[in-house]
Amino acid sequence: MTMERLLCMKGGMGETSYAKNSILQRKAIMKVKTLLDENLLKLMMLKKTSNGCWKIADLGCSSGPNTLISISNIMEIIHKSSLKLNHKKLVFQIYLNDLFENDFNNIFKLLPDFHQSMQGENFGACYMNATPGSFYGRLFPNYYIDIFHSSYCVHWLSQGLVEEAKLDLFNIPIYHPTIEEVEQIIKAEGSFIIKTLKTFKIGWDANLQEDMNDYVVDRKMRGVFISKYHRALLESLLIAEFGENIMDELFSRFAKLIQLFIELKSPDLMNIVLFMTKNS
Ligand SMILES: C[S@@+](CC[C@H](N)C(=O)[O-])C[C@H]1O[C@@H](n2cnc3c(N)ncnc32)[C@H](O)[C@@H]1O
Repeated sequence: MTMERLLCMKGGMGETSYAKNSILQRKAIMKVKTLLDENLLKLMMLKKTSNGCWKIADLGCSSGPNTLISISNIMEIIHKSSLKLNHKKLVFQIYLNDLFENDFNNIFKLLPDFHQSMQGENFGACYMNATPGSFYGRLFPNYYIDIFHSSYCVHWLSQGLVEEAKLDLFNIPIYHPTIEEVEQIIKAEGSFIIKTLKTFKIGWDANLQEDMNDYVVDRKMRGVFISKYHRALLESLLIAEFGENIMDELFSRFAKLIQLFIELKSPDLMNIVLFMTKNS
């Protein structure tokens, strides 16, 4: 089976779904909002879209509320800036991209509420589109999209065939580059100008304690939390290699190991935030 069919996050709204286990990713989206704000305002001062229509693509949108949070953040910022800049009424064309196996239906079910919340703000028209396919291939015509957004996606290496099922051959197809590697490759390739390139850290447990004023989040809860979001991310890949039967046991053991590990260390995830414009 090709890797692209296995990479998708766990769909639906169940206990182990990506939708219910993506708080960490949501925190990252909210953390970069200020940077997005600054950069988009600068972009809007330079650029006028034809007929006030902004075409925005979210690459690797997955299935769950995070997708619509990123998109509504971008729409809000553009709306706010256009009021400041006296631009005419806005129109948004939104393209939600992910791999073919992604649970797009789950996102579609959230759309009526999303449209309603945006209407109240006098945002103008917003047309939603799904764009299934790999972002390593061509998804849109040349010069079509004004803004590409992508969060927690480009570390997935999604080409090639899965190796034979042998534990010592199994590799998770993820690569975490350093900030220097990112900078070097973008400069060498030459199509984009880097406007912002920064890093920030989030604890593996998404700094859960910050949100819980009423009770203490103990190590066991943190272990279970970390194990659950790894399951939502990786289960499809692991099932293809090792079968479904071992998943409960695997992630319950993983939670216990994590619990022991975080007794010794407070591990962080290093995140890279990158904002770039096309080199014209
Ligand atoms: C960890 S999720 C992030 C989802 C969402 N952006 C967020 O921040 O919560 C990564 C998503 O990237 C998608 N993905 C990975 N490789 C892809 C590719 N080549 N083309 C399109 N989507 C891809 C996966 O299917 C998955 O839904």
